[in-house]
Amino acid sequence: MEIKLARNMGFCFGVKRAIGIARQIRKETEEKVWTLGHIIHNPQVVKRLEKEGIIAAEDLAQIDSGYVIIRSHGVHPRILKKIREKNLKEVDATCPLVKKAQEKAKQLVSEGYETFVIGEKEHPEVISIVGETDGLIRVIDSVRNLKINNSKIGLVVQTTQSQEILQEVAAFILPKILEFKVFNTICDVTSKRQREVKKLAKKSDIMIVVGGKRSANTSRLAGIAKAEGAHTYHIEKADAIKEEWFTDVERVGVASGASTPDWIINEVVNKLKKIDKNEVNIDINKEEITT
Ligand code: F3S
Repeated sequence: MEIKLARNMGFCFGVKRAIGIARQIRKETEEKVWTLGHIIHNPQVVKRLEKEGIIAAEDLAQIDSGYVIIRSHGVHPRILKKIREKNLKEVDATCPLVKKAQEKAKQLVSEGYETFVIGEKEHPEVISIVGETDGLIRVIDSVRNLKINNSKIGLVVQTTQSQEILQEVAAFILPKILEFKVFNTICDVTSKRQREVKKLAKKSDIMIVVGGKRSANTSRLAGIAKAEGAHTYHIEKADAIKEEWFTDVERVGVASGASTPDWIINEVVNKLKKIDKNEVNIDINKEEITT
């Protein structure tokens, strides 16, 4: 059996930055350090950080004092206001690319465009983008629920969406209106990983996509791999891997989301190597590994 690892795996810079900020604050203060919600969509990392004293609060009501880290997805301004009212110390670890999507959405609304964001309505990032525009933009997930009322349309995208959906929506809108302003706010890290997974899945019988089940970018990678015809397993940890998946399998591709740490990826690769002992021949293609 041959295993190929995607070129880009492990944390993206936005996730590294958010975790680095949280750890730095933890080092510098004796006060409590909180994150509002999970700092990233990876339960194993959240558990590790809790052991270090960085606590994930489900709700602002749980937080009585200390520092509140705003996670990489950003937060609705209403929450920021409440943090300030409670006299908590706010630390903004919103990914700069999410900030850019928020700013572009605000700009379009202020310039008078009827503005849409392509994304998942309930995702914290999309909630933050909508919040930044005082609820003046509408969330769409495809052209199905898209109704245009204006001749000036603006468009931004959740950072983890695919270029394909952006193209589909833009192509739908363009012939219908006079003026159309699009900011492609899809994160480059996301686009790169999606392209790699597409390529890898084409050459693989099985794809193992490693990352949190609630991670939007990991789920999207798994969806892309499936669409390319590879038998795809979205797993959070190595212990989810079952040996019977590999019967009569020649090529396995491994990819990870942007919030999956290297140590989990290493555990997955090691588990795959152990299957080797059961007479499965694993050849890790080093050329694909750059992490
Ligand atoms: Fe930021 Fe892109 Fe990561 S938006 S948090 S760098 S996946």
